[in-house]
Amino acid sequence: KAFFKPISNASPPSLTKRHNKISVIGAGNVGMAIAQTILTQDLTDELVIVDNKPDKLRGEMLDLQHAAAFLPRVKINSSVEYSVTAGSDLCIVTAGARQIADESRLNLLQRNLALFKGIIPVLARYSPETVLIIVSNPVDVLTYIAWKLSGFPSNRIIGSGTNLDSSRFRFLIADHLQVNAQDVQACIVGEHGDSSVALWSSISIGGVPVLSFLEKQQIAYEKETLENIHKQVIDSAYEVISLKGYTSWAIGYSVASLARSIIRDQRKIHPVSVLAKGFYGIGDVEVFLSLPAQLGRGGVLGVTNVHMNQEEEQRLRDSAKTILEVQTQLGI
Ligand code: NAD
Ligand code: LAC
Repeated sequence: KAFFKPISNASPPSLTKRHNKISVIGAGNVGMAIAQTILTQDLTDELVIVDNKPDKLRGEMLDLQHAAAFLPRVKINSSVEYSVTAGSDLCIVTAGARQIADESRLNLLQRNLALFKGIIPVLARYSPETVLIIVSNPVDVLTYIAWKLSGFPSNRIIGSGTNLDSSRFRFLIADHLQVNAQDVQACIVGEHGDSSVALWSSISIGGVPVLSFLEKQQIAYEKETLENIHKQVIDSAYEVISLKGYTSWAIGYSVASLARSIIRDQRKIHPVSVLAKGFYGIGDVEVFLSLPAQLGRGGVLGVTNVHMNQEEEQRLRDSAKTILEVQTQLGI
């Protein structure tokens, strides 16, 4: 017996909003921070979480479901079986080993490569039309591996890349100048991590290009100060990991911002890891690294032609080389 008595026999209006389904693979610190940010930002109608630890997974699912009275109505499901992800619009992969204090991201590769071989093909089989966001580290190499293992076109494979490093960069600049980080247009490109490249020449605040402003006003700035801010960005994850053991909140917001642009077709520009072949003199090589990319419902819609000076372009090519060397060692 229906709980509500229908008010008329008229057929229900057709749905104007398309049903969305997002799957998060890995219910650890990062997966759960992403899941909870997606829920609070009302980005999906159905959220699925997968992990290979059934008790931890069920506990996390129940804990989120118990917030139902405070959240938009969302179906939350979980399973150790990938069939639960079938028909996802977006799959976000966070499963895998994470760094211990002072360990580099690249050091995680062998462990996470083995894991990806078990995860990506099956995920792609259940959701052949999905966009994949890779978060597990080392994210650029694993995004390349996910591309190969999924057989998807490259526009549907995105690494969370330097979307996070760029937010750290904007925070530090904003803090330094006492302005709002959302008014700071600044981008880090290249590898997510140690060889990342700060694009100082294109930074603006509230639309005012910073370096040319300082030069025109003949205000001296030390290159060392700029290098120090970039160094702090690189050191950020190491510092947080040494203090609390892992990073989670910022990556949660960072990936939710990517999910919003994709699911809601926002066509926003994010520095994310994409197939960089042919861009910025990187050449005819298959390497994923972060470039400012426009994201929408189909995944990557294009790469922005941002201005880089010669030094920045050279650093970007060096970063590509670092990632390629790791891929070559793997023989993939
Ligand atoms: P975590 O240990 O808390 O969680 C990892 C989860 O993966 C665990 O719950 C584990 O059970 C699960 N898992 C392991 N093997 C699995 C499998 N075969 N199938 C399904 N689930 C499996 O780690 P974390 O702190 O959440 O970090 C996860 C990953 O994200 C790490 O590789 C970390 O380096 C990376 N990370 C990336 C960024 C970024 O900016 N790209 C930021 C933070 C962390
Ligand atoms: C980060 C992770 C560890 O927070 O890649 O940068």
